[in-house]
Amino acid sequence: MKATLDALGAEIENALDGCRSDEDLERVRIAYLGRKGRLTEVMRGVGALAPEERPAVGELANALKRRVDECITALRERWKAERRQHELERERLDVTLPGRVWPYGHVHPLTAALDEAVAIFVSLGFSVYEGPHIEDEYHNFEALNIPSDHPARDMHDTFFVDHTHILRTHTSPVQIRVMENQEPPIAAIAPGAVFRHDDDVTHSPMFHQVEGFLVDRAVTFGDLKGVLSLFVQRMFGDDTRLRFRPSFFPFTEPSAEIDISCVICGGARAVNGGTCRVCKATGWLEILGAGMIHPAVFRAVGYDPEVVTGFAFGVGIERVAMLKYGITDIRLLFQNDLRFLRQF
Ligand code: DAH
Repeated sequence: MKATLDALGAEIENALDGCRSDEDLERVRIAYLGRKGRLTEVMRGVGALAPEERPAVGELANALKRRVDECITALRERWKAERRQHELERERLDVTLPGRVWPYGHVHPLTAALDEAVAIFVSLGFSVYEGPHIEDEYHNFEALNIPSDHPARDMHDTFFVDHTHILRTHTSPVQIRVMENQEPPIAAIAPGAVFRHDDDVTHSPMFHQVEGFLVDRAVTFGDLKGVLSLFVQRMFGDDTRLRFRPSFFPFTEPSAEIDISCVICGGARAVNGGTCRVCKATGWLEILGAGMIHPAVFRAVGYDPEVVTGFAFGVGIERVAMLKYGITDIRLLFQNDLRFLRQF
């Protein structure tokens, strides 16, 4: 009997060695320890032994059963722990890894130029106003001393909305709207979109201007020059020079167009041995229209031109952005091609 138990013990050990899964273990357990299992049967046979043999053999059989039970439990637990360990390794989170980076957008070069221009004038004490995109002819033209038969209307390439409303062709009507509603002194700017049907490498049917004007007693052309000098030097650099050329606008008298020294060649008219193409070898770039506000404009808003004087100016922001960032085709500013925009 003892020999049978020893042989059975070795067989079970073998069978357990061959186990690879919980299912294998369960099969082995049933085969030896189940109701009809081999060890169970042997244990049942103990009762048939001679009484003096029984305790020793019973003891041996019980010990074997306990060993097998323990072994099965130990294997189960070991495998369970191994599986858990494996899972933990697989799910390990490295909290020191950098987070996922979301692609942020950034300010459009045109918006950047507009914001910068506005910030410069605000720092000089100008307040910011906006006017409607759909304007009436009175504010866009008449009140600005451009009567309906005036040839200056031709230059404006106006989009008509109906008989009396248009898309504003410039930001100058905001001058009228501000002055209609308040008394001098006024220092105001009006940034925003304007519209003209014109479309090529340097013109877009929608573009942006910053209008500016200052009205008080005894405002002079020198004040205009001072403000604009500061503006272009902050915008394009301290070395930038200005040139005032006599010009004509119906709403200013006298009127001037203002050039800055070329941002590419610095006025030298040549770069890298060739003629400068940005200023077309003139050394100057036209950038602003300006002048002293016309008495007819003051009369239109109910101011006395004998008492107040003022200056006004208008600057095209697309042109500023193109010069500042070296962009040669205005349409790039509106196509929203990310390959272009990401360069800024
Ligand atoms: N409104 C003009 C334009 O769009 C620009 C301009 C010129 C504005 C002279 C002014 C000014 O205020 O004084 O062409």
